[in-house]
Amino acid sequence: MSKLTSILSSTALVGIEQPETLRAPELEKGVGCDFDNYLLVPDNTLDERISAAKAKLGKDVVILGHHYQRDEVVKFADFRGDSLKLSQQAAEVDAKYVIFCGVHFMAESADILRRGSQVVVLPDLSAGCSMADMADIGQVEACWNELSGVTDTKKIIPVTYMNSTAAIKSFTGEQGGSVCTSSNAAAVMKWAFERGEKVLFLPDEHLGRNTGYRMGIPLDEMIVWDPYEELGGNSTEAIAKARVILWKGYCSVHQRFTAEQVARVRRQHPGIRVIVHAECRFEVAQAADEIGSTEGIIRAIKAAKPGTKWAVGTEIHMVNRLSKELTDRQVMSLDSSVCVCTTMFRITPVHLLWALENLGAGKIVNQISVDERTRHFARAALDRMLSLR
Ligand code: 13P
Ligand code: SF4
Repeated sequence: MSKLTSILSSTALVGIEQPETLRAPELEKGVGCDFDNYLLVPDNTLDERISAAKAKLGKDVVILGHHYQRDEVVKFADFRGDSLKLSQQAAEVDAKYVIFCGVHFMAESADILRRGSQVVVLPDLSAGCSMADMADIGQVEACWNELSGVTDTKKIIPVTYMNSTAAIKSFTGEQGGSVCTSSNAAAVMKWAFERGEKVLFLPDEHLGRNTGYRMGIPLDEMIVWDPYEELGGNSTEAIAKARVILWKGYCSVHQRFTAEQVARVRRQHPGIRVIVHAECRFEVAQAADEIGSTEGIIRAIKAAKPGTKWAVGTEIHMVNRLSKELTDRQVMSLDSSVCVCTTMFRITPVHLLWALENLGAGKIVNQISVDERTRHFARAALDRMLSLR
């Protein structure tokens, strides 16, 4: 994607503060100003300017980078990780500014966990997550109301995947539930079953099913809740029998992987190990040798013997990076067509530079700010997860 295309697609999310015009003296020097002016920054000067802007801010800034970020961005991250590792990092850093090179729900989580007056910045506000958008708070509240008509909701513990909006995390916290990530979903589900009889798992159907099944819950005790159907498309009997109620949401990147691809790669590369992200469909997770979070996938491949071959079912930037870094083993994508998370890809070096130089000029741009009430209960749900470490 060209710099211009990426920038033109950067339409802001509704209800989020938009960048304002800079009035700092640096403006006159051409440093820190409206984003459009950054379209003219020559590519070959970006690295140097980003490094200089970061150095100018010193300890005041920390850059967090998710594993799916492009190389040109993630190389500037002080901390790189999966959602769990980055949320732990966000809760621990004491820099004035946290620049989150990831997607919107991650930056929101960092703001929920921030210390005091720390400021969290998402370099491009259009870096959302289609999965998180699949559970709207109105729909989840309606689901809870419908459930209360047919079962005792005091016995249902909501568990929401990190990939959800702050409003959903807040709902979960208020109802006594917890956040989870793909690294700790089983531990959080176990925690939930120690407190209730059923789990409402939001918003990723596949992570919920893969986790529940590995914990020994039969498939027919896990039902899917379709927010567009009455009672989620279930009978009262099915709801009574269910132990896990899976929200009908998914990741468009991970849902592309198929069991046929697993069979094909095994035919083409006898002895290859297949490892997929826990957001993949049930049949893909079943066909793979291992499933895990992004961090778990990296750990498994790094721990493997040199000479081993790996087919990886996750976002392509991470797979390509592993393939480049681990030259003594063969790492390839499970899908030969490119599997890119287009929203992660929206964070470009230009956005990072723009955010850094504005901060250096005393101007906060693209701040992610969760309101106090939402923050209170969302924090409770995140703290429950973090206490399970
Ligand atoms: P991880 O928690 O494994 O980093 O996953 C986040 C994500 O969005 C995967 O699609
Ligand atoms: Fe969301 Fe999927 Fe992108 Fe992860 S890979 S951020 S779940 S759209």
